[in-house]
Amino acid sequence: MLLRAVTSDFGPALARHESQLELRVAAGGVEAEVDPERVAQILRILIDNALAHTPPGTDMVVTAGRQDGRVRLAVRDFGEGIKRQAVERLFEPFYTAGDNQGSGLGLAIARELADRMDGRLSVEAVAGRTTFTLELPA
Ligand SMILES: Nc1ncnc2c1ncn2[C@@H]1O[C@H](COP(=O)(O)OP(=O)(O)OP(=O)(O)O)[C@@H](O)[C@H]1O
Ligand SMILES: [Mg+2]
Repeated sequence: MLLRAVTSDFGPALARHESQLELRVAAGGVEAEVDPERVAQILRILIDNALAHTPPGTDMVVTAGRQDGRVRLAVRDFGEGIKRQAVERLFEPFYTAGDNQGSGLGLAIARELADRMDGRLSVEAVAGRTTFTLELPA
C-alpha cells in the first residue's frame, strides 16, 4: 500500500529526529484511481518538511480517508506552526520561512503536482499544529 511504503521509507529519518509518525487510514482502506508516483512525491515533500522544519521530538500524523466523494490525505505535525504572513506565501517557488530553510521548492512542486491531478493542496497552521491536506477527485 502506497501510504505504508512511503512512510516506512522515512523510518530512519524519523528515528534520527526522534519523531513518531502515526498512520491513520479510514476503516476498509482508501482505494482511488490516482497516479501513485505523484501522490507519493507529494507525501514525501510534506513529511520531509515536517521533519526539516520542526524541533527534534516533534510527532506527526498522516491520515487518509474520503470526504464528500473526494480522497483526502493529510500530514499533520505538532511543531511550532507557521506565521500567518508566511502561510500565504508557502507555495511560491523559492519561498522559505523560519531559520531551518531549504531551497523553498518542495511545496511549489507539491502544489503543481496536485494541480495536475485536479487536486487541491492546502495548509492550516496554528501555534503547535500544522496540517497540509491533499484532496483528490476519486
Ligand atoms: N511542516 C512545517 N512546519 C513549519 N514550517 C514549514 C513546514 N512545511 C514548510 N514549512 C515552511 O515553508 C517553507 C517552504 O517549504 P518548501 O518545502 O517549499 O521549501 P524548503 O523545505 O525550505 O526547501 P526544499 O523543500 O526545496 O528543500 C519552508 O522553508 C519552511 O519555512
Ligand atoms: Mg521542503
